[in-house]
Amino acid sequence: MNKTILITGAAKRIGKEIALTYSELGWNIIIHYNSSKKDAEKLAEKINSKNPNTAKIIQANLDIDSEVSKLIDESKKLFDTIDILVNNASTFYPTPIDNISNDHWQNLIGSNLKGPLFLIHGLKDKLKESNGSIINITDTNLSKGVANFSIYTAAKGGLESITKGLARELAPEITVNAIAPGAMLEPPDVEWTEEQKEKVIANIPLKKMGSEKDIAQAVKFVADAKYITGQIIKVDGGRSL
Ligand SMILES: NC(=O)c1ccc[n+]([C@@H]2O[C@H](COP(=O)([O-])OP(=O)(O)OC[C@H]3O[C@@H](n4cnc5c(N)ncnc54)[C@H](OP(=O)(O)O)[C@@H]3O)[C@@H](O)[C@H]2O)c1
Repeated sequence: MNKTILITGAAKRIGKEIALTYSELGWNIIIHYNSSKKDAEKLAEKINSKNPNTAKIIQANLDIDSEVSKLIDESKKLFDTIDILVNNASTFYPTPIDNISNDHWQNLIGSNLKGPLFLIHGLKDKLKESNGSIINITDTNLSKGVANFSIYTAAKGGLESITKGLARELAPEITVNAIAPGAMLEPPDVEWTEEQKEKVIANIPLKKMGSEKDIAQAVKFVADAKYITGQIIKVDGGRSL
């Protein structure tokens, strides 16, 4: 029986690479997306053309409670098991303190913290049955303090905190870890100038940006490692040192 991975925000970029990595291993892939329907369909077609009927897509806006519930209910029905949940979906934009609003709070907390927490709540029994893994994708910059990103960092910091707490609560059946990427890709819809890129790279000991593959490999490593739980694994080229 194939194993199953559910990846949130999997239509593009890092989530897509995690999906392709697990598809190569013959897994069933649940591709969650919010607005990128065409990309999600294209990815599912690509996977299904190699491994028929192994990829399914589900739409849900993680800011909306009823849509999180729908994602949970639909995911449970698609395949026999759910073995890995990757909370990868994220909204990312600055909220300088002079301009914060309730909408920013709902949006950044919804996708980065509340949605992931309630997904774990809804899927924990299914994950327990398969001695599964939960992997929360956070951000390496949290420990340093990031100006203008108070809500985003509060959300990702909260996600790291619940990673540790839930690692205790859901043990011994489920491992719960976080992967904290550094500079992997430019933010969505942003193209850095060469000068901006050089500035970012100057602060990275390994002198290059990471890639989607670095995160996908880390997900696989952490999910396979059955004696690691409650850890935040930084995949950042040494940037946080
Ligand atoms: N890229 C980096 O260098 C970097 C650095 C540090 C941390 N990270 C973390 O690594 C993860 C992946 O990064 P990424 O750059 O590939 O992510 P991304 O492209 O910024 O976002 C991934 C997906 O999240 C989904 N999403 C956003 N808001 C949502 C909502 N309200 N409900 C449901 N889905 C929502 C979007 O889906 P749709 O397109 O379908 O709407 C989007 O495609 C994220 O958790 C990010 O915070 C990345």
